[in-house]
Amino acid sequence: MSGTIIDGAAIAQALRAEVARETAELIRQGKTQPGLATVLVGDNPASQSYVKSKKKACAEVGIASFGYELPATASQAEVEKLVKELNADPHVNGILVQLPLPRGLDEEGVLSAISIEKDVDGFHPVNIGRLAQKGRDPLFVPCTPAGVIHLLKTVVPSLEGANAVVLGRSNIVGMPVALLLVRENATVTICHSRSKDLPGIVRGADVLVAAVGRAEMVRADWVKPGAVVVDVGINRVDDATRPKGYRLVGDVAFEEVKEVAGAITPVPGGVGPMTIAMLLNNTLRAAKAAG
Ligand code: GUN
Repeated sequence: MSGTIIDGAAIAQALRAEVARETAELIRQGKTQPGLATVLVGDNPASQSYVKSKKKACAEVGIASFGYELPATASQAEVEKLVKELNADPHVNGILVQLPLPRGLDEEGVLSAISIEKDVDGFHPVNIGRLAQKGRDPLFVPCTPAGVIHLLKTVVPSLEGANAVVLGRSNIVGMPVALLLVRENATVTICHSRSKDLPGIVRGADVLVAAVGRAEMVRADWVKPGAVVVDVGINRVDDATRPKGYRLVGDVAFEEVKEVAGAITPVPGGVGPMTIAMLLNNTLRAAKAAG
């Protein structure tokens, strides 16, 4: 029997509808419209497309967006100056600097320049540091990891004591997901390119989060029957039958793993839509906190 397919698109849509409702309510109360500033440095096509989607999603829920673009040749000082101007702008509640930054720019320096109250991506070192510490709470949590936890909770109300395995240790997904799982009282194993016997480790997982960027790496015989599998990967594989000549697949071999897993997210339509929904939610929260 195949497992539950977790419908990330529908869950994200419900969240977006709630953000739209609360945004309209704020405006009805005479508060300033929530606003998100997007900062795109350089001309990475994937980043351009992500930023475009984020601005479109803002418009759909009634959040203002302010797009800023700098050339790949922008200096560290120029990027940080823009961020500081946005920190001081009362119409801007959230600042999103699209990553990765062009080579030569110091990512940590740019992220550190963002006011933590406007850090709706949750990547400021103070917010990440608080995420990693007991008894401290970040003001914002990174969007994709927050989306992963939200999806997990739709099928596993409590993660307490669960064996959770995270494949990947990136700053954007793997590491913050692992930290969030620890905060949920799961027992967490982080695997990466140097890990030995990946299939053996993954077989122990009650909850598996795959975020390595390797097409269909996780096979059915890696997965414990009944495990919950969240696939963060978005990989292009050649497919001459598709109009674009490729199709998108996750890090998990979906068709075979869904026969073993208790629940699984598809690609596309799983984690992807949650990232933007969480960004909108964080921006609304930043606006509410600003009064
Ligand atoms: N690049 C890939 N994912 C993200 C994200 O969630 N936020 C930002 N700012 N950049 C990214």
